[in-house]
Amino acid sequence: MLSREDNEILTRVGPGTLMGDLLRRYWIPACLSSEIDEPDGPPARVRLLGEDLVAFRNTDGEIGLVEEQCPHRGASLFYGRNEERGLRCSYHGWKFDVSGQCIDQRSELHPFAQRIKITSYPVHESGGIVWTYLGPTETMTPFRDFGTETLPPEHVAAAKEIIYCNWVQSMDGDVDTAHISNLHQFDAIDDVPDDGTDEPGYPSGYMSMKFWRHDPRALIEVEDAWHGFRYAGIRDTPNGHKHARITAYIFPASNIIAQIPVSTRQIFVVPADDYTTHRYNFTTQPPANPRGLGGPPFFTYEKYPFEMMPRQGIVARTYTRENDYLIDRVAQKGTSYSGIRDFRSQDAMATETAGPIYDRTREHLGSTDVAVIRMHRQLLRAAKGLAAGSQPPALGGSGDFRSIRGAEKVLAHGEDWRVLGTNDDPVVRESVLGLPDSVAAADGAH
Ligand code: FES
Ligand SMILES: [Fe+2]
Repeated sequence: MLSREDNEILTRVGPGTLMGDLLRRYWIPACLSSEIDEPDGPPARVRLLGEDLVAFRNTDGEIGLVEEQCPHRGASLFYGRNEERGLRCSYHGWKFDVSGQCIDQRSELHPFAQRIKITSYPVHESGGIVWTYLGPTETMTPFRDFGTETLPPEHVAAAKEIIYCNWVQSMDGDVDTAHISNLHQFDAIDDVPDDGTDEPGYPSGYMSMKFWRHDPRALIEVEDAWHGFRYAGIRDTPNGHKHARITAYIFPASNIIAQIPVSTRQIFVVPADDYTTHRYNFTTQPPANPRGLGGPPFFTYEKYPFEMMPRQGIVARTYTRENDYLIDRVAQKGTSYSGIRDFRSQDAMATETAGPIYDRTREHLGSTDVAVIRMHRQLLRAAKGLAAGSQPPALGGSGDFRSIRGAEKVLAHGEDWRVLGTNDDPVVRESVLGLPDSVAAADGAH
């Protein structure tokens, strides 16, 4: 439970708010590259932390991210003409370059373009995403490379999902492993035979889902880290082993959710405003699994009654609050725990229906909410700390963001989940870092 005041601080992101000021110290996604893929092509509307902006790619391929309203008499530059190295307002023809400088006033008898400049934010294109920094110029830190800077084009698969509730609700679902034993469950998983991977090592995707269902009372352990924290949800398996799913929280607004054997799939949550959230997905370095133990993705199981939305481009929202997420009450009694067909829309239902901004003075937190509590605490501490003059955590330049990963494994007796997914984890060294076994073994001796 939070006080009313802390819930306001946590959730509000507009200019001048404590959390808004904090988020403005980080590079954040503004839009997908694919939204403005063509030079001189259509601009994109970008609503970000309560500000209305327009992104465009000029004739030379340079990207501008500028305020939406024309400074002449306020028409939207989204409807402007993107031509000859600038975006021209279609009302009276004022034209702006990517820096926001007015470079032409075609209807003025006495042009004064050099005195007109609109707000423009720095941009950096990486991994299929156009990133920006909305904070003060003097506090801008280097771009945080999560692994996208050297990503081969064939691995770029960025997607954007729009969720209609406050950003913290959406984030809460990402650091909440308990719900996978309920919300995402389906009855047929009990029919999947034990395929021999309920033993120390990497389970198949099917067996992982069986574990989620088998033990709904996950033990949550959280370990603070320089980038925020990592946490494990530890469940008992039918064969009496311990199954750990490890998710990394990266301050302030991203997560790498557990995956077999390790995960580099990043979810970056961006508030468009206090009531609308953009969730960006990108995979920086899909881990090869040389041992072939990952198994097929669970959603390909023939009896799996759900859909999985594509993770590319802007994700369509077919299942919405307005249509009750197309809930199927018959399926809910027989095959699907939630009765909602689309996997991600199950999450959307849970987070959106808590309201535009959930009133956390009314919540009752329990043992499964330890990571949620930790995230709120870190965010509140940093937002209040920034206002008092202290430096926010995990800024660009403070560590190697490419080394942060999620992981999932059935633990051997005495095995520490904290090593999984780190540079010291043998499977990371083999399949992600590409180090031969002998190097891993030699290093392991230290
Ligand atoms: S309102 Fe844009 S040029 Fe007049
Ligand atoms: Fe979920």
